[in-house]
Amino acid sequence: MAPLHLLREKFFWLIAISILGITAIQYFCTGSNDLWELERELYYFPIFIAAMRYGRRGALISLGAIYLFYVPFIVNTWHGSLELESARIIDLFFYLLFAFGAGYLADRDKRIRTELERNRMIISLGRITSGIVHDLKNPLVSIIGLLERLSAGKGDCAKYVPIMLQDALRMKRIVNDVLDFARPVSLKKELCNLSEVVENAVKMCREKAMKAGVKLQTELEEIYLQADPFLLERALVNVISNAIEASKAGGEVHISLKKRKKYALITVRDRGQGMDKETLEHCFDPYFSKKASGNGLGLPITKKIVEAHGGTVAIDQPVSGGTAFKVYLPI
Ligand SMILES: Nc1ncnc2c1ncn2[C@@H]1O[C@H](COP(=O)(O)OP(=O)(O)O)[C@@H](O)[C@H]1O
Ligand SMILES: [Mg+2]
Repeated sequence: MAPLHLLREKFFWLIAISILGITAIQYFCTGSNDLWELERELYYFPIFIAAMRYGRRGALISLGAIYLFYVPFIVNTWHGSLELESARIIDLFFYLLFAFGAGYLADRDKRIRTELERNRMIISLGRITSGIVHDLKNPLVSIIGLLERLSAGKGDCAKYVPIMLQDALRMKRIVNDVLDFARPVSLKKELCNLSEVVENAVKMCREKAMKAGVKLQTELEEIYLQADPFLLERALVNVISNAIEASKAGGEVHISLKKRKKYALITVRDRGQGMDKETLEHCFDPYFSKKASGNGLGLPITKKIVEAHGGTVAIDQPVSGGTAFKVYLPI
């Protein structure tokens, strides 16, 4: 807790102003109304806020400040004997108890939350690792099997090599996906024509769409913005691929780019099966996939790239069915 850093925090000012304000009320209003005896109970408020925001240390420091201002006031308005002052003295003691109690509970709550967060991270790390290993295992086993046959003088080299190349390329794609997901996005921004970027992403998906019997339709406005065209294209390819995979043969995927007041909106709309509740909740989790051949990194990578551009992603489930995936990019 650096003191200078505190000056920029609104909670710090809230605590400081309430302590000063309550003390001022004590000094100026003493005896002026029937409630003045109760006004000192307001000191529980800044202690509580300090405990919630800064834990026990914060609660005790604000208590120190309260004592600093309030004890001289008691001395100044001393009623003559300890007996007559017992209520105020006991209150001082209660402030201390409250600061310790609230601070202790706030610290404990924070500790439990940190622990939970760490456990969640360990679980998701385990899921990610086993996902990677599982994905790499199949092509690797296939390559080893074929190589063993070849080295034993069995099998046809001309037939096996293309299969092994396919498997090796699959492994390369998995490794690249994992790397893309794991490393921080570093953008190489330039002024680019967003409609060209979307067009290129669509082009990259044309073959896949043709094989699946899905039609890709575009409706693109000209928008220029500072962005990394290569990474944005990659982000969009993931989304368009998903839309194609979700569509039935003969279906259609509609891709639009529209200019809004402060952002560009890219929508990829399919008429596929849509997403169930579980998918909607988890589709951005790494390694969440409902496909036999999916690795569940497409959407996490897309989200990461879009957010690196200061944008956001959202999913709509139109009543007419299918899924509308939306990418918002600030202009
Ligand atoms: N357009 C879509 N329609 C229906 N479900 C989708 C769509 N896009 C993504 N999903 C769901 O989200 C999951 C995660 O997608 P993604 O991260 O791209 O991984 P993958 O495509 O490898 O499964 C998919 O397995 C699928 O269940
Ligand atoms: Mg995908």
